[in-house]
Amino acid sequence: DAPLRVALLGCGVVGSQVVRLMHEQADDLAARIGAPLELAGVAVRRLARKRDGDVDPALLTTDAEGLVTRDDVDIVIEVIGGIEPARGLILSALGGGKSVVTANKALLAEDGATVHGAAKRHGTDLYYEASVAGAIPLLRPLRESLAGDRVHRVLGIVNGTTNYILDKMDSTGASFTDALEEAQALGYAEADPTADVEGFDAAAKAAILAGLAFHSRVTAADVHREGITEITATDVASAKAMGYVIKLLAICARSDDGRSVGVRVHPAMIPRSHPLAGVREAYNAVFVEAESGGQLMFYGKGAGGAPTASAVLGDLVAVARNRIAGTHGPQESTYADLPVHPMGET
Ligand code: HSE
Repeated sequence: DAPLRVALLGCGVVGSQVVRLMHEQADDLAARIGAPLELAGVAVRRLARKRDGDVDPALLTTDAEGLVTRDDVDIVIEVIGGIEPARGLILSALGGGKSVVTANKALLAEDGATVHGAAKRHGTDLYYEASVAGAIPLLRPLRESLAGDRVHRVLGIVNGTTNYILDKMDSTGASFTDALEEAQALGYAEADPTADVEGFDAAAKAAILAGLAFHSRVTAADVHREGITEITATDVASAKAMGYVIKLLAICARSDDGRSVGVRVHPAMIPRSHPLAGVREAYNAVFVEAESGGQLMFYGKGAGGAPTASAVLGDLVAVARNRIAGTHGPQESTYADLPVHPMGET
């Protein structure tokens, strides 16, 4: 079978792992998809930078727009992050009928309507499982498995960096600054860790989760947000002495009458007996409370190169299969416009 040609935008912590997995699992992926995948090019900002993994230097280019508009490219994977140039590149790719896989939570949370609209208009794929909670299968379950249920609440730890920091402060008495440096060294933090510690990253993920859980449009601006920069070693120790642990929680809730939603991110004291209290290091966990399904818990690695690349590869297989079958997805809900309360009250 003719190979499906893949363009990769970005070759940092996640992108280099995507390249590695595509190489190492080439035969398995080809068997699962029914056609081999071929890397057509890798767009990077600087050609000279040292990279992990086995990226063929001949594939590197700084011309991302040229790469996504090439006729021989079928699938575009975007792991640059941020709004621009990612949005423009994704729109070019979708406009050219290419399938898109992205890990870009900031873009989906800020302007998901535009990229979803473009995918629909051009009849092509837009998959983004890696945008929330890395390796944890979460968006498909909300969008598909729970589409027949009524979700009341989604509650979770969705930022690995802040969970790592708060866990280190709790278990070793470390200062905020030392714990942040460790998290950065482990590759969990965003390029600018402000996005993690001020709660912007968690707020973007909360907006995406709330949108899928409540079949509504929720943007990052709708999310009431408070980060962890004000949390001191003393706060953590006092909480511990009282039998609590401090976690940065994302809380998405439907109002009792079902007519509005509230979405908020803030540090919260959790009793140590609560299952979320046992989420250590950079792990993520998300609780979903559904009317018929009851309480569901999703747990796993929510940050880091390989776990996030695992979700990207899953989407890559999905879009590749769709191309071969001549179909497209994922099938989204027709969105209701539920009002979102500014302070996240419900
Ligand atoms: N900086 C993010 C985190 C990476 O710490 O969770 C995964 O989105």
